[in-house]
Amino acid sequence: MITRRSWMLASAGVAAAAAAAQGGGKNVVIASGNGSRACTKAMELLQAGRDTLEAVIAGVNIIEEDPNDSSVGYGGLPNEEGVVELDACVMHGPTRRAGAVGALRGIKTPSRVARLVMERTDHIMLVGEGALRFAKAHGFQEENLLTDRARKAWLAWKESLRDKNRHNNWGPGLDAPPEERQAFLERFFPGADEATLAWAWEVIADPPTGTINCLALNARGEMSGVTTTSGLAWKIPGRVGDSPIIGAGLYVDQDVGAAGSTGRGEENIRVVGAHTVVENMRHGMSAREAVLDCLKRISRNYGDDLDRLALFDINFYALRKDGDFAAGSLWNVSRPYRGGKPRPRRFTYNDGTGTRTADCVFLYRRKI
Ligand code: GLY
Repeated sequence: MITRRSWMLASAGVAAAAAAAQGGGKNVVIASGNGSRACTKAMELLQAGRDTLEAVIAGVNIIEEDPNDSSVGYGGLPNEEGVVELDACVMHGPTRRAGAVGALRGIKTPSRVARLVMERTDHIMLVGEGALRFAKAHGFQEENLLTDRARKAWLAWKESLRDKNRHNNWGPGLDAPPEERQAFLERFFPGADEATLAWAWEVIADPPTGTINCLALNARGEMSGVTTTSGLAWKIPGRVGDSPIIGAGLYVDQDVGAAGSTGRGEENIRVVGAHTVVENMRHGMSAREAVLDCLKRISRNYGDDLDRLALFDINFYALRKDGDFAAGSLWNVSRPYRGGKPRPRRFTYNDGTGTRTADCVFLYRRKI
């Protein structure tokens, strides 16, 4: 005989099994190549049964607070005036809510402020001075985010402009002896190792748009995502990239999946990349097919001109609700500098069996 209690328990079990089947029944976190610590932390929290948004934000906070990571949060490379300006956004699948901040100064963890915009305002996005005042009203500490390393790189970039513009007054005068690249870099980073000098030259010659995107799916099929960045190095103050733009830097649709992006934000905004990837998956594409299709749209914006496309890179990350995931890059490898080796484009993931890295699928093979 079926009692009311056993019927309810059986129904709950069937519902849980159905939800798990829809979500693939397991926890999955994926992130950009710089996100391995974020993946590990987020997975720990998912396995402890915590909310997917809480998990991804706690993951990226590790990198936002790390002074040695120059692409995100504290230690990020500044704008052309030497001021660090941060962009971030979050989306919570189960409640279908979103929040974002743009050009936020003085707060190490813009992802947390983006979450507060979502939870404690009737808005989606706050920028600049208003975003800072809002963060301070909620008890965030305003701090100088410019580390010594980032300040020196910024100063070196400013002085390097003299090569292109003799009216640039920063750096030794016309009467100073000529300087080789090595001596120039060592003036800013005395006693630094080769890796630091190579990094400094790379960020001067090819200003990066380092960013971290992290997406999570739990065993109940719930999804969330976050994207956070210090944006394009040496940007015009007030420049906002794709990272805090809902639909470009991040999109989550609880019925379908989640997507995010890193790389040159201006290209992504023009194809509303994260939303495009999610829509591709809604129409039946695998995660891999969805990111490649989006990269083709970017290529198409340049008439598939490989010489112009070679000047930048962009990456998309996709996680479907059934657990299928992939990441894709325009190019197979980064551009090499100072005789260094080109780095293969990689992303990180954790499916509950440990954090790993894997190659991104790519559209084009770079001629080196
Ligand atoms: N994707 C980061 C930026 O362009 O700011």
